[in-house]
Amino acid sequence: MSEAIIPFSLKDAPALIERLLPVQKLSAEVFKERKAGAGQTLVPLGAYWKGRKPLIFNKACILGCLLPATANPKRDLEIFEKLMAMDDESFVIRWKHRPKPANILATLSIASIAEYFVSDPPHILPESAPVDWSLPELKDVKVKWRENIPELERRQLEAQILPIESYRKRVEMANRPEEVLDSIHEHIWGAVNLHLNTNAHSIPELVEQLGVMRFGRIPRLADTFCGSGQIPFEAARLGCDVYASDLNPMACMLTWGAFHIVGSSPEARADKENEQRSVAQKVQAEIDRLGVEIDGSGWRAKAYLYCLEVRCQQSGWMVPLLPSRVLSFGKQAVAELVPVPSEKRYDITVRSGVTDDELAAAAKGTLRSDGRGQDPYLIHTVDVREYRTKISTLRGDFRNPNVVNGNKLRFWEKSDFKPRQDDIFQERLYAIHWMRPKSTGKKFYYKFTGVTEADLERERIVEQFVEEHFIEWQEKGWIPDMRIEPGGKTDEPIRTRGWTHWHHLFPARHLMLLGLLRREATNGETLLRLARILDYTSKLCRWTTSKAGSSSPGEGGRTGGASDNPANVFYNQALNTFYNYGCRASFPLLQLFAAELPFAASLRNTKVSCRTASELADSADIFATDPPYGDAVKYEEILEFFIAWLRKNPPPEFADWVWDSRRSLAIKGEGEDFRRGMVAAYKRMTECMPNNGIQVIMFTHQSGSIWADMANIVWASGLQVTAAWYVVTETDSALRQGSNVKGTVLLVCRKRLGMHKTSRDDLAWEIQEEVEAQVDALTGLNQEAKGLYRDENVFEDADIQMAGYAAALRVLTHYAIIDGRDMTAEAIRPRVKGETTFVDGLIAFAVDTANQCLVPRGIEKRHWDRLSGAERFYLKMLDMEARGTKTLDNYQNFAKAFKVRDFQTLMASRKANNARLKSAVEFGRAEMGEGSELHQSVLRAVLYAVMELAKNVDGNEVVSHLTMNIPNYYGDMTQRELAVDLADYLAKHLETIRPDEASAARVLRELIKNQRLG
Ligand SMILES: C[S@@+](CC[C@H](N)C(=O)[O-])C[C@H]1O[C@@H](n2cnc3c(N)ncnc32)[C@H](O)[C@@H]1O
Repeated sequence: MSEAIIPFSLKDAPALIERLLPVQKLSAEVFKERKAGAGQTLVPLGAYWKGRKPLIFNKACILGCLLPATANPKRDLEIFEKLMAMDDESFVIRWKHRPKPANILATLSIASIAEYFVSDPPHILPESAPVDWSLPELKDVKVKWRENIPELERRQLEAQILPIESYRKRVEMANRPEEVLDSIHEHIWGAVNLHLNTNAHSIPELVEQLGVMRFGRIPRLADTFCGSGQIPFEAARLGCDVYASDLNPMACMLTWGAFHIVGSSPEARADKENEQRSVAQKVQAEIDRLGVEIDGSGWRAKAYLYCLEVRCQQSGWMVPLLPSRVLSFGKQAVAELVPVPSEKRYDITVRSGVTDDELAAAAKGTLRSDGRGQDPYLIHTVDVREYRTKISTLRGDFRNPNVVNGNKLRFWEKSDFKPRQDDIFQERLYAIHWMRPKSTGKKFYYKFTGVTEADLERERIVEQFVEEHFIEWQEKGWIPDMRIEPGGKTDEPIRTRGWTHWHHLFPARHLMLLGLLRREATNGETLLRLARILDYTSKLCRWTTSKAGSSSPGEGGRTGGASDNPANVFYNQALNTFYNYGCRASFPLLQLFAAELPFAASLRNTKVSCRTASELADSADIFATDPPYGDAVKYEEILEFFIAWLRKNPPPEFADWVWDSRRSLAIKGEGEDFRRGMVAAYKRMTECMPNNGIQVIMFTHQSGSIWADMANIVWASGLQVTAAWYVVTETDSALRQGSNVKGTVLLVCRKRLGMHKTSRDDLAWEIQEEVEAQVDALTGLNQEAKGLYRDENVFEDADIQMAGYAAALRVLTHYAIIDGRDMTAEAIRPRVKGETTFVDGLIAFAVDTANQCLVPRGIEKRHWDRLSGAERFYLKMLDMEARGTKTLDNYQNFAKAFKVRDFQTLMASRKANNARLKSAVEFGRAEMGEGSELHQSVLRAVLYAVMELAKNVDGNEVVSHLTMNIPNYYGDMTQRELAVDLADYLAKHLETIRPDEASAARVLRELIKNQRLG
């Protein structure tokens, strides 16, 4: 390391993330990563994990904590963007094809071509560019870069021919930085080192140097809610020393995989991959020896389709429960029920290549529901008579006097692995999907068949095999013997099937395969791979069939051909049971098991620990955490599906972990327990952090009370908020589907040092000054960075609003004592329902003050102060619409900010990416009555008048209505002034979006101004 790196020289420097973060660009990058789906770096380790924090987002947070905020914010921003590969020159490398010299010469004006390029044959090219390559004499001329051109210069030239697009569009067309990590940063080090006084030539070197300058060592980062390991993995890849922990062993295992599999060297990987392939081959050989998945004539099973079967109480027939009889759209294959009246049951045959009409008819099975959420019916016809019975009736659902729901299903016992003869629900194999290799090698023929006597015999062999090994395997932990604890997500299998133990969820074929594999899992990687395929096993795999994909790349749709497959269990966050399900055979499952796993970097100095966050025993300079908030994902319940298989006799790597989900210790919900758990966790982190340490807390923006909650927690933990940012972290498709746009709020915190005291009165001034300074700083940076951002803003209004809140919280949480009260004690005081605590009051006051400072241009502050929340909301959003903003999350954010109860009544469209307010005409006469938040407001009266004028109502009449609609119009002159102000505001803001109404508003403004009073 260079002499120039002076330990602790940045000890007390504010961090960049405390001053700025290019949230808009970052949101675009996050989208890009999310859309990569299974191509995201750590997803192959466990696609079942929900709620991964994007790596690019984590990188921004970590670098943002290490980099100093200097006196030159614009340059800070530029350097940060270079390190994030968001600058133009990085896009040259991120582009799918690097620009070619010939293209550069065809496009750019260059005075001396020879300064940059050499040509072959020489001396034919003109001296300067642009070059017209269509000239016949240039046909065979080749050009390449001169070797002595520095990389930066070369990229600067290349960058000029990239298409000029919005940042979002650019990112969409480019690679993610991590896909081109090897070379992406080559051009930045001169500028970076000059700005930061460092001497680095890679990100890990820079991280080390910044760590030394700030903390006196390689920075140590900890994440005590590590989940799948996205934050600690990125930190380690950047060069930090890393500590990761989680209460849940599944989370620890995934994090371990991120460190030791993806974070491993190519040489080490090759050996491990071979080892895993051998395991798969060994198990496959054993199954093949039993001969239970081959038909003896070259076909091997790909999947088995099972359904429940039940006796119809009215007809006495045994009827298969099939929501649909379609097996395959691609193969036009269907299952057909053939009545066997003598035995009161159905045979099931399979036919492929049926007509379109037959296929359409097969979409209706024996199970139908009258509507969404309705309990389905079993429907079948015997001798032209249709029988309908509700499934709840078949199950014998009841509600007893103490309001306990139940049914007549037998609870399965630990020794069961298939239904007993007199159980209500029987299970039946009804079709098989086969595969046979084509002579050319890799590809296969596929077919569907019904079930033959030989197939049933193979079923019996499997069941017998499981029966023979059952007790021994449960004892050794090769198949589960764990009870299903009731819970929000785990109740469903118990209630709808009577399953009481986790192994009940698995068909015998899977118990056999997984048991054999589990037996081989003597090291961490095998166990991790086993968990990967567990997601594709069990009776919770819906059978899916699809036609050939039609959507184009980038539209978020499928592009491949038709496919027939059982879905994975965790396609959602529940444990849903199905009436029919697909059971993948061992061949595809073992292929998945042995599939090569990615590796991205050689990581060092990482540690994983399985413990609660409050049991932390290691210290760290930076804490970056994404705690459980609300009930978004019930990790502690759904992960038991895996824990049941992995918990006994874990391999040495995982032997110290508690193989239990420890539901009672998991932080969850939003109530008192949640707050207590969070405070214990964050207090401990604060204790384990040096005085100049820094924390980033991420949480999903869900409920309006989030600010109060988090501020309370931070305060009570001895932390002080220093900044807050909001980054949209949802994918495009999620945005398209629902209007509930979600993002992530980042709270940046420091240790609260000293025992500062203040009074509520003084706070008011201090908060106001701080918020105003914050808003000014970001608005200023927007202006300064115009060149850097073309026409886009670094910060949108919602970002500035968020920063305003943070500024208010920064002042508030700086104090330990307010009006003589100890704020730590106040913050953890249990809440009484409906009561506003002292802290809540202060936070509401701080947030209100922040909102006051966000007056849109064109409204006088004295008027703004008098407006209701709904009026402010309407005016603010109109301001944003006039500037082209259309995303619904802005409306949601501001509705919360202005405390609008129901902003939906003010909206003409609530589409995620195309939201808009109602126009005056669209309001018509609505929202005038007492129930409305605009009732008797001046804004509503003005909009009404605009509507009338737009509809050509006589001006005098319009003004007369206006004076009646505005309370105390003649008694309070400011009401009239406000009406003029609002009409003027509407006229200006509607000019580009609704010129008709803008003109009506102009007329109105003049009418009111010229109205003769008295
Ligand atoms: C939102 S997730 C973290 C996700 C992670 N950032 C990722 O990208 O995958 C929250 C994690 O907190 C863990 N957790 C819940 N209560 C805990 C506690 N008391 N101590 C430690 N971890 C806990 C859960 O097991 C879960 O893995």
